[in-house]
Amino acid sequence: MGSWLCEALIRLGSKVTCLDNLSSGRFENIMHLVNEENFEYIRGDVAEGVEGKYDIIFHLASRASPLEFLRYPIEIIKANAFGTYNLLELARRNDSIFFLASTSEVYGDSKVIPIPEDYRGNVNPVGERSCYDESKRLAEALCYAFHKQYGLRVMIGRIFNTYGPRMRYEGYYGRVIPRFIVQALKNEPITIFGDGNQTRSFCYVTDLIIQILKFVSKNLKFEILNLGNDEEIKIIDLAKLIIKLTNSNSKIIFLPPMPDDPRRRKPDLSKMFKLLNFKPKISLKEGLLKTISWFKNELRI
Ligand SMILES: NC(=O)c1ccc[n+]([C@@H]2O[C@H](COP(=O)([O-])OP(=O)(O)OC[C@H]3O[C@@H](n4cnc5c(N)ncnc54)[C@H](O)[C@@H]3O)[C@@H](O)[C@H]2O)c1
Repeated sequence: MGSWLCEALIRLGSKVTCLDNLSSGRFENIMHLVNEENFEYIRGDVAEGVEGKYDIIFHLASRASPLEFLRYPIEIIKANAFGTYNLLELARRNDSIFFLASTSEVYGDSKVIPIPEDYRGNVNPVGERSCYDESKRLAEALCYAFHKQYGLRVMIGRIFNTYGPRMRYEGYYGRVIPRFIVQALKNEPITIFGDGNQTRSFCYVTDLIIQILKFVSKNLKFEILNLGNDEEIKIIDLAKLIIKLTNSNSKIIFLPPMPDDPRRRKPDLSKMFKLLNFKPKISLKEGLLKTISWFKNELRI
């Protein structure tokens, strides 16, 4: 998502510094930007401290794949706790606007569908997902504290599942859409965790970037918005759709469910629609076709 945001900001004429430790990101995703006059890349870790003076700070640095939660819980907590603190402190020193990439995971396994921003969550504080869920919740609390104590202008976007080209598909990095697409393109079995009846609502990446940019351009002091697309789909139906769109021979196989995996996830986007006057433009089918075409090229299939 960060590479798309950098690209959009550059095209809008901004000067952009991108800081990334490449733990889950790929340098290839920003390679086409490195020769741009207004683009600077710094390899660094937000948890270790950050310098500089910026008008707007977008904090997107965190591993975000459920399989990474199992393998790198401490790094995830550090990026969202220390990283958020360091960046907020930098924003306070320079009076910058701050955007936090929070997540629908702060709601946990929601009892309310669609989920509005004032739902307080059903989160297990000690479990396989808690490194991510709880550290994003702490990041939000830090944002609020900096706003209350120092008057910092903060925008929190609770992002729901977002996908598109440039996502990693391999090993621990693979999230559901890139994993299914690559399995389908290779005619390998499509692996579903659980019975496939769990739902998600997927947003194509450019629709999400537009929401972030519209959000930070509003003259707001402190605001929380659900960001994404509210087109909900069962994971089993997503697998079938990807098999159809790729003309694949893949069969579907079921693996044990992921611990604490939310059953349904669909945002209530009414606040976002009203405040940003924006509705996502790319349907799931259209976004999947764009992503499939990128993966075909990437894998030379
Ligand atoms: N894609 C989604 O569905 C989704 C949903 C909700 C929230 N988010 C949030 O949006 C942000 C971006 O997610 P993404 O989907 O692009 O994932 P991603 O893994 O592609 O991007 C995360 C980036 O952060 C970098 N990073 C991780 N830890 C870092 C650290 N300590 N210091 C510096 N860089 C670090 C990684 O190298 C990577 O480039 C994350 O904060 C994620 O939690 C994503």
